[in-house]
Amino acid sequence: MKVDVILGLQWGDEGKGKIVDVFTPRYNIIARFQGGPNAGHTIEFQGKKFVLHTVPSGIFHPGTQNIIGNGVIIDPFILFQELDTLTRAGMSPENNLLISRRAHLILPTHRLLDAALEHRKGDAKIGSTLKGIGPAYTDKYGRNGIRIGNILLPDFQQRYRQLKEDHLDMVKNLGFDMAAQRFDGMGFTSYEEQWFEALGRMKTLQITDGEWFINKSMDAGKSVLAEGAQGTMLDIDFGAYPYVTSSNTITAGVCSGLGIAPQRIGTVFGIFKAYCTRVGSGPFPTELHDADGDKMRKEGNEFGSTTGRPRRCGWIDMPALRYAIMLNGVNRLIMMKSDVLNQFPVIKICTSYQSGDAILDGYPFESGGDSIRPLYREMQGWNRSLAHCRSMTDIPAELKNYIQYIEKSAGLPVDILSIGPDRLQTLQRETL
Ligand code: GDP
Ligand code: IMO
Ligand code: MG
Repeated sequence: MKVDVILGLQWGDEGKGKIVDVFTPRYNIIARFQGGPNAGHTIEFQGKKFVLHTVPSGIFHPGTQNIIGNGVIIDPFILFQELDTLTRAGMSPENNLLISRRAHLILPTHRLLDAALEHRKGDAKIGSTLKGIGPAYTDKYGRNGIRIGNILLPDFQQRYRQLKEDHLDMVKNLGFDMAAQRFDGMGFTSYEEQWFEALGRMKTLQITDGEWFINKSMDAGKSVLAEGAQGTMLDIDFGAYPYVTSSNTITAGVCSGLGIAPQRIGTVFGIFKAYCTRVGSGPFPTELHDADGDKMRKEGNEFGSTTGRPRRCGWIDMPALRYAIMLNGVNRLIMMKSDVLNQFPVIKICTSYQSGDAILDGYPFESGGDSIRPLYREMQGWNRSLAHCRSMTDIPAELKNYIQYIEKSAGLPVDILSIGPDRLQTLQRETL
């Protein structure tokens, strides 16, 4: 068996959580491979809504195993907030959740350091979710990090103290006032206490050698779906650096983040919105600063699932999408939030960029400021609700045209169309 992959082709928040949940009945194992609680994956069904940050989105199906892979970084406090919410909703998430021993821990001082570094950057800040992502991955690659497996070892306290001390020195050197910083409404000391309490509870979870678990499961004929976090345009290597996250969000990250060989990658499902959003700072070529942008934000309820920040909105960007398809080896496309464009008489598609006298079809090294100008094609909107649509054949002709243009420009068919946040508001091509 191979590992299929679902990942975002834009700047995150494409709707990965919803589609992973919809796909879960087809798989035995759902695996997160990178990122951490910077992610916010929303799942809606039967009038209920859940937002997951660390837990894979397959958790709502008790028959499916969910694993947090070695490439993920974990804040135990946030993890248990999620697990407690699921438990209160009548579930037993710890029964079908595994955690790789090789995943790294996010310490309270990683979050503190994230805030201190962002503060220091001033106007040039990344717009981080302030969950400690950059500092925790920095420690991982700097070979100073602490892994989940370490919490069961006798030298854990000593390692924790040492790393905390180093972080506090850095925070002091940055001139950051840590007393003013809040963590989920708490001061540092209270947060650290709660973090330790959650850490103690973590020892009761199923901690395992994730790479062996996944490979042996595949050998035994089990199917695996890897769930991406963030999006391709936030990838540490291929996003508009430094306005990126600190992990490889692309298909390549599945191999290192789960411990599987490249030839074991199966179908790659690329998810995109019918328009674009971005939260945080950094280049966004098709961003709208007008009434259309405000309308997208309102209709799409474009406010961050993790931080509540308003998301920046803009038209769909084909050069960025084609770049993402290439980087990930996407085989199938999934278009989300089509319903958000229901009331737009005219819809624009960025087909290429202009840079000086040159027309660019690809995504350039420099994409900020005035370095490139998006070139648009206008299409007629469908101007009506999609609520009645039960299959792809029910959709208005203008939406069909829009999809056909995207398919031609992307060189791939759109197999799934999402027309609302609920599980059931998902139209699939008959061939799937
Ligand atoms: P993720 O991070 O990729 O999982 O996406 P988020 O959960 O952060 O953001 C997607 C948002 O759009 C969530 O609030 C979803 O409930 C919602 N959503 C998903 N699909 C659709 C859709 O087709 N239409 C609408 N209107 N909302 C959707
Ligand atoms: P999901 O999985 C959207 C953005 C932040 C910031 C930049 C770096 O829900 O799609 P970080 O906290 O990683 O240091 O922030 O990346 N960002 C996301 N934007 N969706 C996400 O995750 C994101 N995770 C990080 O806003 O601009
Ligand atoms: Mg999200």
